[in-house]
Amino acid sequence: MRSLRRPTVALGRAVAISALGISLVACAPRRQVDVGWAPTPTAIAAQGLEWLGVHKGDVVAELGCGDGRVAVVAAQLGADGLCVELDPLLAAKARAAVAQAGVADHVRVIEGDIFQTDFSRANVVFFFLLPSVNDRLLPLFRRQLKPGTRLLSREFQFREWPAEQTLSLPGFTFYAWTLPPRAVAADHP
Ligand SMILES: C[S@@+](CC[C@H](N)C(=O)[O-])C[C@H]1O[C@@H](n2cnc3c(N)ncnc32)[C@H](O)[C@@H]1O
Repeated sequence: MRSLRRPTVALGRAVAISALGISLVACAPRRQVDVGWAPTPTAIAAQGLEWLGVHKGDVVAELGCGDGRVAVVAAQLGADGLCVELDPLLAAKARAAVAQAGVADHVRVIEGDIFQTDFSRANVVFFFLLPSVNDRLLPLFRRQLKPGTRLLSREFQFREWPAEQTLSLPGFTFYAWTLPPRAVAADHP
C-alpha cells in the first residue's frame, strides 16, 4: 500500500522553449495531492457502503476516488456517483474502471481538486483522507451539502465532531455522520 503522505503530482504541461539552439524546459507550478493513494479493498468498501444504507436514488460523491473502485461499488448498489480525483493517472484509471464495470452512465469522474469541485448534488459523501484534510473539508460540507447528507469516512474523524456511528471491521474502521439542519449546525463546531 502506498503512503498516505503527500506525493507530488505534476499538473502543469511542460513547455519547451528553444532559442539559439538551447532548449529550456519550464514547468508550470506543481499541485500536490493532500493525501497519497492507498486503496480501500473492494469488499471492505462494499461493507462500508451497505452499512451506511447506500441504495438506488442516492448520489454518492467520493472525494479522492483513486482508481474508482469505491465509486463502482456504489453504482453496483444502484447509486449515481461523482468521483473526484486530482491525480490524472488515477482519474484515468477510475474512468477505465467505471467503463469496464459498465456503470459509466451512472458515475461521473472529475479530474480535479476536491476543494474546487461542486459536489453539492450528493446526498452521500465518502472520503478516505487524513484528519487535517477532513477538518478543512467540514466547512465546505456545511456550505455545499444539504442537511440530511450522510458522510462516511474511512479511518479518520473530524477533530471537533465525533462520529455518530462507527463500523469496526478487522483492520478497517468507518465513521458516519448526518449533516444536521442548518440551525442545529450552527451549534456544532
Ligand atoms: C487514501 S486514497 C483513497 C482512495 C479511494 N477513496 C479509496 O478509498 O480507495 C486518497 C486519494 O485522494 C486523492 N487526493 C488527495 N488530495 C486530493 C485533492 N485535493 N483533490 C482530489 N483528490 C485528492 C489521492 O490522489 C488519492 O487517490
